[in-house]
Amino acid sequence: MSIINCQLTQSPIGIFDSGIGGLTVVKAIQAALPFERIIYFGDTARVPYGPKSQVTIRKYAADDTAMLMRYQPKIIVVACNTVSALALDVVEKSCPGITVTGVLKAGAKLAAKATRNNRIGVIGTQATVSSNAYGRAINELNPDIEVFSRACPLFVPLAEEGFIDHPATKLIAEQYLSEITKEGIDTLVLGCTHYPILRKVIEETVGPDIRIIDSAEAVAFRTRELLTESGMLASARKASAPHLLVSDLPQKFSMLYQLFMGSEMPDVELVEV
Ligand code: DGL
Repeated sequence: MSIINCQLTQSPIGIFDSGIGGLTVVKAIQAALPFERIIYFGDTARVPYGPKSQVTIRKYAADDTAMLMRYQPKIIVVACNTVSALALDVVEKSCPGITVTGVLKAGAKLAAKATRNNRIGVIGTQATVSSNAYGRAINELNPDIEVFSRACPLFVPLAEEGFIDHPATKLIAEQYLSEITKEGIDTLVLGCTHYPILRKVIEETVGPDIRIIDSAEAVAFRTRELLTESGMLASARKASAPHLLVSDLPQKFSMLYQLFMGSEMPDVELVEV
């Protein structure tokens, strides 16, 4: 193995999201790649990205990438569907020579493979749904698939508040999901990294006949594929806790991390974007 490749195998996987939602990607990557070092940045000072303009989202995407680049990652995983939908090219341009992968393409691929009746529902933030990026990505894979999208903006603060089993979440889920389920979909993409946190309520609301696609799991498989293909998998077989960075409220993040990841309350570093 060359010195450069050896250094790369030891470099971390850089993951970013607008807030805590990307922890669903951290969890999936830890499960798929238990010996990788992870550096995670959650832009908690500026969350949510979903209701913001494309110009702002693209600026944030460049800042988030620059933040991770300080830690010389071997790959950058965009754990934010909104950035994946509207600014993946910005991320790529901001880290020349580093492989970039995002949740959107991985989720679209898994959904296109899963549907049996060619009717897929996608739920996401306002920006993701308005961009129709999922529809385009799915139709590139199979033009016969019909895609029905619905923005579910309130799911983000409900997840950020940890309202996982709350009756308010159930009520809002019914309101958001009733129309899309009437379209006869057999597959539903959780097109926002916060939504897997509410997966149980979403699953109960849509019923057992609709297969849920978690784009977090999909991007974890893709990351493993990319690192394997490029010979950059970690050589040391030692698991370590992720290094967590946030742009605001590290203690709140630490508490939510414990809730979602079911582990000890971790150290979270406050950084300035
Ligand atoms: N994490 C974002 C996403 O996956 C949702 C939260 C936000 O609006 O920033 O799209």
